[in-house]
Amino acid sequence: MIKAIIFDLDGVVVDTAIFHYQAWKRLANEMGFDLTPEQNEQLKGISRLESLDILLDIGGITIDSYEEKQKLATKKNEWYRENILKMKPSDILPGVRHFIVDLKNTNYKIAIGSSSKNAGTILERIGLDSFFDAVVDGTKISKSKPDPEVFLKAAEELNIAPEYCLVFEDAAAGIEAAKKAGMLAIGVGDYTNLSNADKVIPDFSNINVMLIDNLTK
Ligand code: BG6
Ligand code: MG
Repeated sequence: MIKAIIFDLDGVVVDTAIFHYQAWKRLANEMGFDLTPEQNEQLKGISRLESLDILLDIGGITIDSYEEKQKLATKKNEWYRENILKMKPSDILPGVRHFIVDLKNTNYKIAIGSSSKNAGTILERIGLDSFFDAVVDGTKISKSKPDPEVFLKAAEELNIAPEYCLVFEDAAAGIEAAKKAGMLAIGVGDYTNLSNADKVIPDFSNINVMLIDNLTK
């Protein structure tokens, strides 16, 4: 029986996954190579510095200096933040607001489980900063997805056992993290990238509280 719903943020509640991609692609282009949408799937859900390591690997570039890596990651983050600072409540993805309001009214606990250190800024911009019962983001964890820490911490903050939690995720790393946490993992997006999920939905346009039972079957 599901008692709590944990939402990834980037690519699930808001379409910021595209801003991450654009910023990483711009950085790759500056370094003389390209980043395809397929390659970008590997970066989804992963922390900023780990994503940079994957990007450098894709470009066949070796950088040993931590300071140099920090500089590149900061540059990417500044480009990314230019976009998220323009966000507004209407940028919440279709169906999400209605669904989370319904969940609250039906006494489900709801949380955010994100690897991002920018989650607080985004939630503020879209007007959901005091909406969730728990927000666990990149500032609160030591290991990012696919490690289950973020989701286990969210369950702990909600005071609900992992087996009663359902996670919505758009990243393969996030599905892996949710499964490792012993939770039900529902992929949001394209099945090709989320085949390890318990179920995959294209988006939230047809999802409501009544359907949670169907998702758990
Ligand atoms: C995740 C995104 O939510 O957060 C990743 O899916 C991103 O693509 C990660 O790298 C870290 O985000 P940030 O905002 O701290 O750089
Ligand atoms: Mg995501």
